[in-house]
Amino acid sequence: MKKRLFVTGGMGYIGSHTLIELAEHTDYELISLDSFQNSVPHVQQRLERVLGRKILNEAVDLCDMPRLEAAFQKYAPIEGIIHFAALKSVPDSVANPVFYYRNNLVSLLNVLECVEKYQVKNFIFSSSCAIYGEVAKLPVFEGSIQNMPQSPYAHTKQMGERIIQDFMVQKNGINCIILRYFNPVGAHVSGLIGEEPLNKPTNLLPLLTRTAAGLQTELLVFGSDYPTRDGSCIRDYVHVSDIAQAHVLALKYAVQNPKMGLEVFNLGSGEGVSVLEAIHTFQEIIGKTLNYRIVERRAGDLAAIYSDSSHAAKHLGWRCQRSLADMLESAWKWQQTLASEQS
Ligand SMILES: NC(=O)c1ccc[n+]([C@@H]2O[C@H](COP(=O)([O-])OP(=O)(O)OC[C@H]3O[C@@H](n4cnc5c(N)ncnc54)[C@H](O)[C@@H]3O)[C@@H](O)[C@H]2O)c1
Repeated sequence: MKKRLFVTGGMGYIGSHTLIELAEHTDYELISLDSFQNSVPHVQQRLERVLGRKILNEAVDLCDMPRLEAAFQKYAPIEGIIHFAALKSVPDSVANPVFYYRNNLVSLLNVLECVEKYQVKNFIFSSSCAIYGEVAKLPVFEGSIQNMPQSPYAHTKQMGERIIQDFMVQKNGINCIILRYFNPVGAHVSGLIGEEPLNKPTNLLPLLTRTAAGLQTELLVFGSDYPTRDGSCIRDYVHVSDIAQAHVLALKYAVQNPKMGLEVFNLGSGEGVSVLEAIHTFQEIIGKTLNYRIVERRAGDLAAIYSDSSHAAKHLGWRCQRSLADMLESAWKWQQTLASEQS
């Protein structure tokens, strides 16, 4: 029998790309646990088209412990869990903090209880560069001082990491890897899988491609007075398929090092790109001028952040393979897939 892996949030943006990499590069039986609260059921069919085989998803809300336990009882033993499931919108978390804390932390607590009860050996947690808060010194590495995060969403990730650290103190025989993503963007090379959240996107790339496709009349650039080279925010963009590949490497690393314990890795390109630079590069790629407008800063946004990801390079052998142009081109191809399906 194949060993089983749970991928929570497997129908979401990063989870679906990671299922592709896991299916292509590992021999696990993959089971996604996703309630579809921020994803669409047809992601499952899209994945099956890319992979040419069935992908299982159990539509479980991880905050519902009896239903989560039922999934463990159905599939145990489970060799590992990659825990993507969470809500991720910074502005929504500012508007609905209690909802965000409940969803992101109760789901994590429930999953960790099951890790212990069902003796899961390997646990990988999706964290974010947002946990560093406003940093004084760039690039940030894993040991950089963590400041006060800027949003309830970022707090859920910082608190999630803290819960995992405390959980791991007495745990012999469980390996845990925390992966801190910088800004995952782009789409699968097939153009069949990409970012398709149910909630209105609030991150730059989907907003760029939606404006270019005429789905919204203008793109708002939040803030032009940040202390950066052109006044707009600086981010470290990473292709989502590079992020997905890091999970395959992290899982292999955990399995090959049974006494590893807890490890934390940044996943970023190491390069900062400003919002205005991303817009200009995108305009060159699509050969079209975008209607964008600079407005006031948005609550919860950091001025600038980019990574030092040398720890992941050294231990996981992970590096970004894809360029900013690859990220923007693939995001545009994905937008065209969506447009062709709607016409
Ligand atoms: N996308 C980014 O920019 C980014 C950056 C840093 C960290 N992260 C983290 O990576 C993870 C994946 O992000 P994503 O971009 O794929 O998000 P996503 O919203 O596309 O996917 C998350 C999936 O989790 C599911 N989910 C949420 N709460 C759930 C619950 N209680 N029970 C079951 N399913 C639930 C949603 O339905 C969704 O399909 C999240 O933890 C997010 O915080 C994302």
